[in-house]
Amino acid sequence: MTGGPEAGPRHVAIIMDGNGRWAQARGRPRLFGHHAGAKRVREVVECCPALGVKYLTIFAFSTENWKRTQVEVAGLMSLFRRYISKEMKALATKNVRVRFIGDRERLDKKLIQLMDALERETADNDRTHLTIALNYGGRDEVARATKRLAQDVASGKLDPESVDEETLPRYLDTCVLPDPDLVIRTSGEARISNFLLWQSAYAEYEFIDTLWPDFTAEELARLCQGYGGRDRRFGAVKT
Ligand code: IPE
Ligand code: IPE
Ligand code: MG
Repeated sequence: MTGGPEAGPRHVAIIMDGNGRWAQARGRPRLFGHHAGAKRVREVVECCPALGVKYLTIFAFSTENWKRTQVEVAGLMSLFRRYISKEMKALATKNVRVRFIGDRERLDKKLIQLMDALERETADNDRTHLTIALNYGGRDEVARATKRLAQDVASGKLDPESVDEETLPRYLDTCVLPDPDLVIRTSGEARISNFLLWQSAYAEYEFIDTLWPDFTAEELARLCQGYGGRDRRFGAVKT
């Protein structure tokens, strides 16, 4: 089967891993790799329309990444601030709508302001929906969603008898997004590291060896084409 936009994934989610090893291989500090990684995002976002990818979700910082050194965490936060300020115009003119998922509470005020501004500035765009997972963890997201769901039950807004598998997703950070069709992880690790746990129940996975700073639009095109040849049965038997 040939791939192409029609057969390709509508929602691609990427675990952008391998920045540290990319830098290490060059004898440079880990942050050098993070900067190189951030630079790859633009090309990947811009190739989405041609591939028929309407939704792109990227994992930028996990709830577990706070365990890294203070220098790396501070460097990443500063990189996110710079990335948002620098890319705001380009994203807006390319008709990209940006959303953030994850828990904002632990992030610094300046960064939160920039995230709000980018969401606001791009709110009317609809060519590509870019979602950036920042201080995101799948378990944390489900826990936060459950808390709000419980609050609605306690206040009488939600009948507990009506709760089914359509209910919880309405409380998730991703409530307005479709589930990912294809989840890609770079850098050779075959694990999902707490990314989109609920949403990826039926996603297809691609674990590739490329380190994120080496990832290209061509590679995404190849993976999307491979996806087009897969048989997604969702538990049923094809007749
Ligand atoms: C991914 O690259 C970026 C973040 C997790 C922020 P890593 O920093 O995990 O790179 P490796 O896995 O150490 O090579
Ligand atoms: C997952 O990568 C998180 C991001 C890409 C932001 P990690 O490098 O943090 O995951 P582990 O530690 O290998 O599981
Ligand atoms: Mg890693």
